[in-house]
Amino acid sequence: MKQSINKVSEWFLERFPLSDLWHDHMAHYYAPKNFNIWYFFGSLALFVLVNQFVTGIFLTMNYKPDAELAFDSVEYIMRDVDWGWLVRYMHSTGASAFFIVVYLHMFRGLIYGSFKQPRELIWIFGMLIFVCLMAEAFMGYLLPWGQMSYWGAQVIISLFSAIPVVGDELSLWVRGDYVVSDATLNRFFAFHVIAVPLALLILVFLHIVALHEVGSNNPDGIDIHENVNWQGKPLDGIPFHPYYTVKDIVGVGVFMFFFAVVIFYMPEMGGYFLEHANFIPADPLKTPEHIAPVWYFTPFYAILRAVPDKFAGVIAMGGAIAVLFALPWLDRGKVRSIRYRGGLFKKALLLFVISFIGLGYLGTQPATPMATTVARVLTAIYFGFFLLMPLYTRWEKTKPVPDRTTPESSLEERIPLLLALYDEIAPVEQTSRKFNPAGLKAVLIRFAKHLKESLD
Ligand code: HEM
Repeated sequence: MKQSINKVSEWFLERFPLSDLWHDHMAHYYAPKNFNIWYFFGSLALFVLVNQFVTGIFLTMNYKPDAELAFDSVEYIMRDVDWGWLVRYMHSTGASAFFIVVYLHMFRGLIYGSFKQPRELIWIFGMLIFVCLMAEAFMGYLLPWGQMSYWGAQVIISLFSAIPVVGDELSLWVRGDYVVSDATLNRFFAFHVIAVPLALLILVFLHIVALHEVGSNNPDGIDIHENVNWQGKPLDGIPFHPYYTVKDIVGVGVFMFFFAVVIFYMPEMGGYFLEHANFIPADPLKTPEHIAPVWYFTPFYAILRAVPDKFAGVIAMGGAIAVLFALPWLDRGKVRSIRYRGGLFKKALLLFVISFIGLGYLGTQPATPMATTVARVLTAIYFGFFLLMPLYTRWEKTKPVPDRTTPESSLEERIPLLLALYDEIAPVEQTSRKFNPAGLKAVLIRFAKHLKESLD
Protein backbone atom coordinates (compact mmCIF):
# COMPACT_ATOMS: atom_id res chain seq x y z
CA MET A 1 0.00 0.00 0.00
CA LYS A 2 2.76 2.42 1.08
CA GLN A 3 4.70 1.54 -2.03
CA SER A 4 1.82 2.27 -4.36
CA ILE A 5 1.18 5.62 -2.62
CA ASN A 6 4.86 6.47 -3.11
CA LYS A 7 4.66 5.51 -6.77
CA VAL A 8 1.58 7.67 -7.33
CA SER A 9 3.15 10.67 -5.56
CA GLU A 10 6.38 10.24 -7.56
CA TRP A 11 4.36 10.09 -10.76
CA PHE A 12 2.51 13.25 -9.75
CA LEU A 13 5.59 15.21 -8.64
CA GLU A 14 7.41 14.44 -11.86
CA ARG A 15 4.59 16.22 -13.62
CA PHE A 16 3.65 18.98 -11.18
CA PRO A 17 6.00 21.19 -9.07
CA LEU A 18 4.04 20.73 -5.83
CA SER A 19 7.10 20.25 -3.61
CA ASP A 20 8.82 23.26 -5.19
CA LEU A 21 5.72 25.36 -4.53
CA TRP A 22 5.55 24.14 -0.93
CA HIS A 23 9.27 24.78 -0.48
CA ASP A 24 9.24 28.28 -2.04
CA HIS A 25 6.01 29.57 -0.52
CA MET A 26 5.67 27.76 2.80
CA ALA A 27 8.50 25.76 4.33
CA HIS A 28 11.33 27.97 3.06
CA TYR A 29 9.47 31.23 2.69
CA TYR A 30 10.96 33.47 5.36
CA ALA A 31 8.63 35.92 7.08
CA PRO A 32 9.73 38.49 9.67
CA LYS A 33 9.71 36.99 13.14
CA ASN A 34 8.12 40.04 14.77
CA PHE A 35 4.58 39.82 13.32
CA ASN A 36 2.03 40.98 15.88
CA ILE A 37 -1.76 40.88 16.21
CA TRP A 38 -2.21 43.16 13.18
CA TYR A 39 -0.75 40.44 10.96
CA PHE A 40 -3.66 38.07 11.56
CA PHE A 41 -6.06 39.87 9.29
CA GLY A 42 -4.64 38.73 5.93
CA SER A 43 -5.14 35.06 6.74
CA LEU A 44 -8.51 35.90 8.32
CA ALA A 45 -9.57 37.62 5.10
CA LEU A 46 -8.68 34.40 3.26
CA PHE A 47 -10.70 32.41 5.78
CA VAL A 48 -13.76 34.65 5.38
CA LEU A 49 -13.39 34.48 1.60
CA VAL A 50 -13.61 30.68 1.75
CA ASN A 51 -16.58 30.92 4.13
CA GLN A 52 -18.40 33.21 1.66
CA PHE A 53 -17.71 30.84 -1.23
CA VAL A 54 -18.85 27.70 0.58
CA THR A 55 -21.99 29.19 2.16
CA GLY A 56 -22.76 31.06 -1.08
CA ILE A 57 -22.77 27.79 -3.04
CA PHE A 58 -25.24 26.23 -0.59
CA LEU A 59 -27.49 29.32 -0.61
CA THR A 60 -27.58 29.27 -4.42
CA MET A 61 -28.99 25.73 -4.30
CA ASN A 62 -32.27 27.05 -2.89
CA TYR A 63 -32.35 30.74 -3.80
CA LYS A 64 -34.52 31.90 -6.73
CA PRO A 65 -33.25 34.94 -8.68
CA ASP A 66 -36.73 36.05 -9.65
CA ALA A 67 -38.47 39.20 -8.39
CA GLU A 68 -41.63 37.17 -7.67
CA LEU A 69 -39.85 34.41 -5.77
CA ALA A 70 -36.62 35.82 -4.32
CA PHE A 71 -37.93 37.07 -0.96
CA ASP A 72 -39.90 33.89 -0.31
CA SER A 73 -36.99 31.68 -1.33
CA VAL A 74 -34.86 33.34 1.36
CA GLU A 75 -37.63 32.75 3.92
CA TYR A 76 -37.80 29.14 2.71
CA ILE A 77 -34.04 28.80 3.29
CA MET A 78 -34.46 30.25 6.79
CA ARG A 79 -37.41 28.10 7.81
CA ASP A 80 -37.55 24.89 5.79
CA VAL A 81 -34.13 24.03 4.40
CA ASP A 82 -32.09 21.88 6.79
CA TRP A 83 -29.51 24.13 8.43
CA GLY A 84 -30.52 26.85 5.95
CA TRP A 85 -30.74 29.47 8.71
CA LEU A 86 -27.16 28.69 9.71
CA VAL A 87 -25.84 28.87 6.16
CA ARG A 88 -27.64 32.16 5.57
CA TYR A 89 -26.44 33.75 8.81
CA MET A 90 -22.90 32.53 8.15
CA HIS A 91 -23.08 34.26 4.76
CA SER A 92 -24.68 37.52 5.97
CA THR A 93 -22.44 37.76 9.05
CA GLY A 94 -19.51 36.79 6.84
CA ALA A 95 -20.18 39.84 4.65
CA SER A 96 -19.82 42.23 7.61
CA ALA A 97 -16.92 40.21 9.03
CA PHE A 98 -15.19 40.52 5.66
CA PHE A 99 -15.31 44.30 5.86
CA ILE A 100 -14.24 44.39 9.53
CA VAL A 101 -11.25 42.17 8.71
CA VAL A 102 -10.37 44.03 5.52
CA TYR A 103 -10.64 47.48 7.15
CA LEU A 104 -8.30 46.31 9.94
CA HIS A 105 -5.99 44.73 7.34
CA MET A 106 -5.83 48.03 5.44
CA PHE A 107 -5.29 49.97 8.67
CA ARG A 108 -2.33 47.71 9.46
CA GLY A 109 -0.90 48.64 6.04
CA LEU A 110 -1.39 52.29 6.95
CA ILE A 111 0.33 52.18 10.35
CA TYR A 112 3.30 50.09 9.24
CA GLY A 113 3.71 51.72 5.81
CA SER A 114 3.19 48.38 4.04
CA PHE A 115 2.04 50.22 0.90
CA LYS A 116 5.40 51.96 0.50
CA GLN A 117 8.14 50.97 -1.92
CA PRO A 118 8.59 48.05 -2.86
CA ARG A 119 5.03 46.96 -1.94
CA GLU A 120 3.03 49.42 -4.07
CA LEU A 121 1.63 46.67 -6.26
CA ILE A 122 0.45 44.61 -3.25
CA TRP A 123 -1.47 47.72 -2.17
CA ILE A 124 -2.90 48.34 -5.67
CA PHE A 125 -4.10 44.73 -5.95
CA GLY A 126 -5.51 45.12 -2.42
CA MET A 127 -7.42 48.23 -3.46
CA LEU A 128 -8.82 46.44 -6.52
CA ILE A 129 -9.94 43.67 -4.16
CA PHE A 130 -11.59 46.31 -1.97
CA VAL A 131 -13.51 47.80 -4.93
CA CYS A 132 -14.63 44.31 -6.04
CA LEU A 133 -15.64 43.53 -2.47
CA MET A 134 -17.84 46.62 -2.36
CA ALA A 135 -19.43 45.67 -5.71
CA GLU A 136 -19.93 42.10 -4.47
CA ALA A 137 -21.60 43.25 -1.24
CA PHE A 138 -23.76 45.85 -3.01
CA MET A 139 -25.08 43.34 -5.55
CA GLY A 140 -25.52 40.61 -2.94
CA TYR A 141 -27.66 42.93 -0.86
CA LEU A 142 -30.25 43.22 -3.66
CA LEU A 143 -30.79 39.45 -3.77
CA PRO A 144 -33.08 39.01 -0.70
CA TRP A 145 -35.41 41.49 -2.44
CA GLY A 146 -36.38 43.23 0.80
CA GLN A 147 -37.36 46.90 1.10
CA MET A 148 -33.79 48.01 1.81
CA SER A 149 -32.38 45.80 -0.95
CA TYR A 150 -34.71 47.44 -3.40
CA TRP A 151 -34.50 51.06 -2.32
CA GLY A 152 -30.79 50.96 -1.53
CA ALA A 153 -30.13 49.76 -5.09
CA GLN A 154 -32.56 52.35 -6.46
CA VAL A 155 -30.73 55.20 -4.69
CA ILE A 156 -27.23 54.06 -5.60
CA ILE A 157 -27.95 53.23 -9.26
CA SER A 158 -29.76 56.52 -9.76
CA LEU A 159 -26.50 58.25 -8.73
CA PHE A 160 -25.17 57.36 -12.17
CA SER A 161 -27.80 59.65 -13.66
CA ALA A 162 -26.00 62.60 -12.03
CA ILE A 163 -23.17 62.17 -14.54
CA PRO A 164 -23.61 64.84 -17.25
CA VAL A 165 -24.69 63.83 -20.79
CA VAL A 166 -24.51 60.01 -20.47
CA GLY A 167 -25.89 59.71 -16.91
CA ASP A 168 -29.49 58.72 -17.65
CA GLU A 169 -28.52 56.24 -20.34
CA LEU A 170 -25.90 54.78 -18.03
CA SER A 171 -28.26 54.16 -15.12
CA LEU A 172 -30.81 52.65 -17.51
CA TRP A 173 -28.07 50.36 -18.84
CA VAL A 174 -27.03 49.28 -15.32
CA ARG A 175 -30.63 48.57 -14.21
CA GLY A 176 -31.76 47.06 -17.53
CA ASP A 177 -35.07 48.82 -16.89
CA TYR A 178 -36.48 52.23 -15.92
CA VAL A 179 -36.68 51.15 -12.28
CA VAL A 180 -34.96 48.40 -10.32
CA SER A 181 -36.78 45.27 -11.48
CA ASP A 182 -36.50 41.57 -12.26
CA ALA A 183 -33.93 42.37 -15.00
CA THR A 184 -31.74 44.12 -12.42
CA LEU A 185 -32.08 41.22 -9.98
CA ASN A 186 -31.04 38.71 -12.65
CA ARG A 187 -27.92 40.57 -13.71
CA PHE A 188 -26.91 41.31 -10.12
CA PHE A 189 -27.29 37.60 -9.35
CA ALA A 190 -25.02 36.68 -12.27
CA PHE A 191 -22.38 39.19 -11.16
CA HIS A 192 -22.64 38.29 -7.48
CA VAL A 193 -22.39 34.54 -8.05
CA ILE A 194 -19.96 34.27 -10.95
CA ALA A 195 -18.24 37.37 -12.29
CA VAL A 196 -17.14 39.24 -9.17
CA PRO A 197 -16.12 36.15 -7.12
CA LEU A 198 -13.95 35.08 -10.05
CA ALA A 199 -12.34 38.54 -10.22
CA LEU A 200 -11.83 38.41 -6.44
CA LEU A 201 -10.12 35.02 -6.64
CA ILE A 202 -7.78 36.18 -9.38
CA LEU A 203 -6.97 39.41 -7.52
CA VAL A 204 -6.28 37.60 -4.23
CA PHE A 205 -3.94 35.27 -6.13
CA LEU A 206 -2.10 38.25 -7.67
CA HIS A 207 -2.03 39.98 -4.25
CA ILE A 208 -0.24 37.00 -2.68
CA VAL A 209 2.10 36.49 -5.67
CA ALA A 210 3.14 40.16 -5.42
CA LEU A 211 3.58 39.77 -1.66
CA HIS A 212 5.81 36.70 -2.02
CA GLU A 213 7.93 38.45 -4.65
CA VAL A 214 9.05 41.24 -2.30
CA GLY A 215 8.31 39.64 1.09
CA SER A 216 6.22 40.86 3.99
CA ASN A 217 6.75 44.12 5.77
CA ASN A 218 6.72 44.05 9.61
CA PRO A 219 5.90 46.27 12.61
CA ASP A 220 9.39 47.82 12.46
CA GLY A 221 9.09 48.50 8.73
CA ILE A 222 12.64 47.26 8.08
CA ASP A 223 13.92 44.97 5.35
CA ILE A 224 14.80 41.60 6.92
CA HIS A 225 16.76 40.57 3.81
CA GLU A 226 19.50 43.06 4.64
CA ASN A 227 20.77 40.89 7.52
CA VAL A 228 21.29 37.28 6.48
CA ASN A 229 23.28 34.34 7.87
CA TRP A 230 25.97 32.39 6.00
CA GLN A 231 23.23 30.39 4.24
CA GLY A 232 21.60 33.60 3.01
CA LYS A 233 18.62 33.17 5.37
CA PRO A 234 17.30 36.35 7.00
CA LEU A 235 18.44 36.55 10.63
CA ASP A 236 15.15 38.16 11.61
CA GLY A 237 13.02 35.76 9.58
CA ILE A 238 11.37 32.43 10.35
CA PRO A 239 9.92 29.90 7.90
CA PHE A 240 6.24 30.55 7.23
CA HIS A 241 5.50 26.89 7.84
CA PRO A 242 5.21 25.73 10.60
CA TYR A 243 5.54 28.98 12.57
CA TYR A 244 2.95 31.19 10.94
CA THR A 245 0.63 28.43 9.75
CA VAL A 246 0.21 27.47 13.41
CA LYS A 247 -0.03 31.08 14.57
CA ASP A 248 -2.66 31.88 11.94
CA ILE A 249 -4.73 28.88 13.04
CA VAL A 250 -4.85 30.41 16.53
CA GLY A 251 -6.11 33.65 14.95
CA VAL A 252 -8.77 31.72 13.03
CA GLY A 253 -9.84 30.00 16.28
CA VAL A 254 -10.30 33.29 18.11
CA PHE A 255 -12.09 34.78 15.12
CA MET A 256 -14.46 31.80 14.93
CA PHE A 257 -15.42 32.34 18.57
CA PHE A 258 -16.61 35.90 17.89
CA PHE A 259 -18.11 34.87 14.56
CA ALA A 260 -20.15 32.13 16.26
CA VAL A 261 -21.34 34.51 19.00
CA VAL A 262 -22.75 36.84 16.34
CA ILE A 263 -24.28 34.06 14.25
CA PHE A 264 -25.99 32.33 17.17
CA TYR A 265 -26.92 35.25 19.40
CA MET A 266 -27.16 38.44 17.35
CA PRO A 267 -27.22 37.69 13.60
CA GLU A 268 -28.90 41.01 12.79
CA MET A 269 -26.51 42.91 15.08
CA GLY A 270 -29.15 45.45 16.02
CA GLY A 271 -29.95 46.17 12.38
CA TYR A 272 -26.33 46.86 11.43
CA PHE A 273 -25.58 43.51 9.75
CA LEU A 274 -29.14 42.86 8.52
CA GLU A 275 -31.32 45.94 8.40
CA HIS A 276 -34.81 45.68 9.92
CA ALA A 277 -36.53 47.07 6.81
CA ASN A 278 -35.11 44.19 4.81
CA PHE A 279 -37.44 41.74 6.50
CA ILE A 280 -40.29 43.38 4.57
CA PRO A 281 -40.66 42.32 0.88
CA ALA A 282 -39.61 44.91 -1.71
CA ASP A 283 -42.45 47.29 -2.56
CA PRO A 284 -41.73 49.59 -5.54
CA LEU A 285 -44.66 51.80 -4.49
CA LYS A 286 -43.59 52.43 -0.90
CA THR A 287 -40.30 54.17 -0.08
CA PRO A 288 -38.97 53.35 3.41
CA GLU A 289 -38.85 56.34 5.75
CA HIS A 290 -35.08 56.29 6.14
CA ILE A 291 -32.83 54.67 3.53
CA ALA A 292 -29.33 53.86 4.78
CA PRO A 293 -26.80 51.42 3.34
CA VAL A 294 -25.18 48.69 5.43
CA TRP A 295 -22.58 49.99 7.92
CA TYR A 296 -19.52 49.27 5.77
CA PHE A 297 -20.68 51.71 3.09
CA THR A 298 -21.81 54.48 5.44
CA PRO A 299 -18.52 56.48 5.59
CA PHE A 300 -18.63 56.88 1.81
CA TYR A 301 -22.40 57.45 1.81
CA ALA A 302 -21.93 60.26 4.38
CA ILE A 303 -19.34 61.88 2.09
CA LEU A 304 -21.83 61.68 -0.81
CA ARG A 305 -24.52 63.40 1.24
CA ALA A 306 -22.16 66.01 2.68
CA VAL A 307 -21.71 67.62 -0.74
CA PRO A 308 -24.67 69.81 -1.77
CA ASP A 309 -24.46 69.11 -5.50
CA LYS A 310 -25.41 65.56 -6.55
CA PHE A 311 -22.75 65.15 -9.23
CA ALA A 312 -20.04 66.72 -7.04
CA GLY A 313 -21.15 64.33 -4.26
CA VAL A 314 -20.68 61.35 -6.56
CA ILE A 315 -17.21 62.64 -7.49
CA ALA A 316 -16.34 63.13 -3.80
CA MET A 317 -17.53 59.62 -2.93
CA GLY A 318 -15.55 58.11 -5.81
CA GLY A 319 -12.59 60.32 -4.91
CA ALA A 320 -12.62 59.08 -1.32
CA ILE A 321 -11.91 55.57 -2.65
CA ALA A 322 -9.69 56.62 -5.56
CA VAL A 323 -7.35 58.61 -3.31
CA LEU A 324 -6.47 55.39 -1.47
CA PHE A 325 -4.96 54.02 -4.69
CA ALA A 326 -2.50 56.92 -4.71
CA LEU A 327 -1.34 56.35 -1.12
CA PRO A 328 2.08 54.86 -2.01
CA TRP A 329 2.91 58.06 -3.89
CA LEU A 330 1.37 60.51 -1.45
CA ASP A 331 3.49 59.37 1.47
CA ARG A 332 6.94 60.96 1.23
CA GLY A 333 8.07 59.84 4.69
CA LYS A 334 11.54 58.31 5.04
CA VAL A 335 10.37 55.58 7.42
CA ARG A 336 7.65 53.01 7.02
CA SER A 337 6.45 52.11 10.49
CA ILE A 338 4.48 54.39 12.78
CA ARG A 339 6.98 53.41 15.49
CA TYR A 340 9.56 55.70 13.88
CA ARG A 341 7.30 58.34 12.36
CA GLY A 342 7.07 61.84 13.83
CA GLY A 343 4.18 63.36 15.77
CA LEU A 344 2.58 64.96 12.70
CA PHE A 345 1.77 61.64 11.05
CA LYS A 346 0.43 60.18 14.29
CA LYS A 347 -1.87 63.17 14.87
CA ALA A 348 -3.02 63.16 11.24
CA LEU A 349 -3.76 59.45 11.47
CA LEU A 350 -5.75 59.92 14.66
CA LEU A 351 -7.83 62.64 13.00
CA PHE A 352 -8.34 60.38 9.98
CA VAL A 353 -9.60 57.53 12.17
CA ILE A 354 -11.97 59.91 13.98
CA SER A 355 -13.25 61.23 10.63
CA PHE A 356 -13.76 57.74 9.19
CA ILE A 357 -15.66 56.45 12.23
CA GLY A 358 -17.59 59.72 12.54
CA LEU A 359 -18.61 59.61 8.88
CA GLY A 360 -19.56 55.95 9.31
CA TYR A 361 -21.89 56.91 12.15
CA LEU A 362 -23.38 59.91 10.35
CA GLY A 363 -24.05 57.76 7.28
CA THR A 364 -26.47 55.67 9.36
CA GLN A 365 -28.34 58.76 10.61
CA PRO A 366 -30.88 61.04 8.89
CA ALA A 367 -29.21 64.04 7.23
CA THR A 368 -30.24 66.86 9.59
CA PRO A 369 -28.59 70.30 9.01
CA MET A 370 -26.34 69.75 12.07
CA ALA A 371 -25.32 66.25 10.91
CA THR A 372 -24.56 67.61 7.44
CA THR A 373 -22.31 70.33 8.85
CA VAL A 374 -20.36 67.81 10.94
CA ALA A 375 -20.14 65.47 7.92
CA ARG A 376 -18.63 68.33 5.88
CA VAL A 377 -15.94 68.97 8.48
CA LEU A 378 -15.15 65.24 8.70
CA THR A 379 -15.05 64.97 4.90
CA ALA A 380 -12.52 67.82 4.81
CA ILE A 381 -10.39 65.97 7.42
CA TYR A 382 -10.68 62.71 5.45
CA PHE A 383 -9.35 64.32 2.28
CA GLY A 384 -6.90 66.50 4.20
CA PHE A 385 -5.22 63.40 5.61
CA PHE A 386 -4.39 62.19 2.10
CA LEU A 387 -3.92 65.40 0.16
CA LEU A 388 -1.65 67.05 2.73
CA MET A 389 0.31 63.83 3.23
CA PRO A 390 3.12 64.76 0.78
CA LEU A 391 3.74 67.84 2.94
CA TYR A 392 3.54 66.62 6.53
CA THR A 393 5.33 63.33 5.87
CA ARG A 394 8.21 65.25 4.25
CA TRP A 395 8.42 67.93 6.95
CA GLU A 396 8.18 65.80 10.05
CA LYS A 397 11.19 64.67 12.06
CA THR A 398 11.38 60.89 12.14
CA LYS A 399 13.16 58.64 14.63
CA PRO A 400 16.16 56.51 13.65
CA VAL A 401 15.16 53.05 12.41
CA PRO A 402 17.07 50.08 13.90
CA ASP A 403 18.94 47.64 11.62
CA ARG A 404 17.31 44.62 13.18
CA THR A 405 13.76 43.95 14.34
CA THR A 406 13.11 45.04 17.91
CA PRO A 407 12.57 42.05 20.20
CA GLU A 408 9.00 41.19 21.08
CA SER A 409 8.60 39.64 24.53
CA SER A 410 9.16 35.88 24.47
CA LEU A 411 6.71 33.25 25.66
CA GLU A 412 8.72 32.81 28.90
CA GLU A 413 8.34 36.51 29.58
CA ARG A 414 4.65 36.37 28.77
CA ILE A 415 3.72 33.46 31.06
CA PRO A 416 4.21 35.40 34.33
CA LEU A 417 2.30 38.24 32.68
CA LEU A 418 -0.57 35.90 31.84
CA LEU A 419 -0.57 34.51 35.38
CA ALA A 420 -0.67 38.03 36.81
CA LEU A 421 -3.52 38.77 34.42
CA TYR A 422 -5.40 35.69 35.65
CA ASP A 423 -4.92 36.79 39.28
CA GLU A 424 -6.39 40.15 38.42
CA ILE A 425 -9.59 38.79 36.87
CA ALA A 426 -9.95 35.75 39.11
CA PRO A 427 -12.47 36.09 41.96
CA VAL A 428 -11.03 37.76 45.06
CA GLU A 429 -11.85 34.67 47.15
CA GLN A 430 -10.92 31.57 45.25
CA THR A 431 -13.95 29.70 46.60
CA SER A 432 -16.55 32.22 45.51
CA ARG A 433 -17.56 32.68 41.89
CA LYS A 434 -18.03 36.41 42.26
CA PHE A 435 -17.03 38.55 39.33
CA ASN A 436 -14.39 41.17 40.15
CA PRO A 437 -15.12 44.43 38.27
CA ALA A 438 -11.89 46.07 39.53
CA GLY A 439 -9.96 43.21 37.93
CA LEU A 440 -11.74 43.65 34.62
CA LYS A 441 -10.96 47.38 34.68
CA ALA A 442 -7.28 46.66 35.33
CA VAL A 443 -7.23 44.20 32.43
CA LEU A 444 -8.89 46.68 30.09
CA ILE A 445 -6.36 49.37 31.03
CA ARG A 446 -3.54 46.91 30.48
CA PHE A 447 -5.00 45.91 27.11
CA ALA A 448 -5.28 49.58 26.04
CA LYS A 449 -1.66 50.15 27.09
CA HIS A 450 -0.57 47.09 25.13
CA LEU A 451 -2.41 48.32 22.04
CA LYS A 452 -0.78 51.74 22.40
CA GLU A 453 2.64 50.13 22.81
CA SER A 454 2.14 48.10 19.63
CA LEU A 455 1.67 51.42 17.79
CA ASP A 456 4.59 53.29 19.43
C1 HEM B 1 -10.04 39.41 0.09
C2 HEM B 1 -9.31 40.33 0.65
C3 HEM B 1 -7.86 40.18 1.00
C4 HEM B 1 -7.16 39.04 1.27
C5 HEM B 1 -7.65 37.60 1.28
C6 HEM B 1 -5.81 39.46 1.58
C7 HEM B 1 -4.79 38.59 1.93
C8 HEM B 1 -3.54 38.97 2.37
C9 HEM B 1 -2.58 38.10 3.00
C10 HEM B 1 -2.80 36.61 3.28
C11 HEM B 1 -1.50 38.85 3.29
C12 HEM B 1 -0.24 38.34 4.01
C13 HEM B 1 -0.51 38.28 5.50
C14 HEM B 1 -0.61 39.62 6.15
O1 HEM B 1 0.29 40.43 5.92
O2 HEM B 1 -1.59 39.88 6.87
C15 HEM B 1 -1.73 40.19 2.82
C16 HEM B 1 -0.84 41.25 2.90
C17 HEM B 1 -1.10 42.54 2.50
N1 HEM B 1 -2.32 43.03 2.08
FE1 HEM B 1 -3.98 41.95 1.77
N2 HEM B 1 -5.70 40.82 1.47
C18 HEM B 1 -6.94 41.31 1.13
C19 HEM B 1 -7.27 42.63 0.94
C20 HEM B 1 -6.39 43.70 1.00
C21 HEM B 1 -6.74 45.07 0.83
C22 HEM B 1 -8.16 45.56 0.56
C23 HEM B 1 -5.59 45.80 0.95
C24 HEM B 1 -5.37 47.29 0.83
C25 HEM B 1 -5.95 48.06 0.04
C26 HEM B 1 -4.51 44.89 1.22
C27 HEM B 1 -3.18 45.24 1.41
C28 HEM B 1 -2.18 44.38 1.83
C29 HEM B 1 -0.80 44.77 2.07
C30 HEM B 1 -0.21 46.17 1.88
C31 HEM B 1 -0.12 43.62 2.49
C32 HEM B 1 1.34 43.51 2.89
C33 HEM B 1 1.39 43.77 4.36
C34 HEM B 1 2.74 43.71 4.98
O3 HEM B 1 3.63 43.01 4.44
O4 HEM B 1 2.90 44.38 6.02
N3 HEM B 1 -5.04 43.62 1.26
N4 HEM B 1 -3.00 40.25 2.28
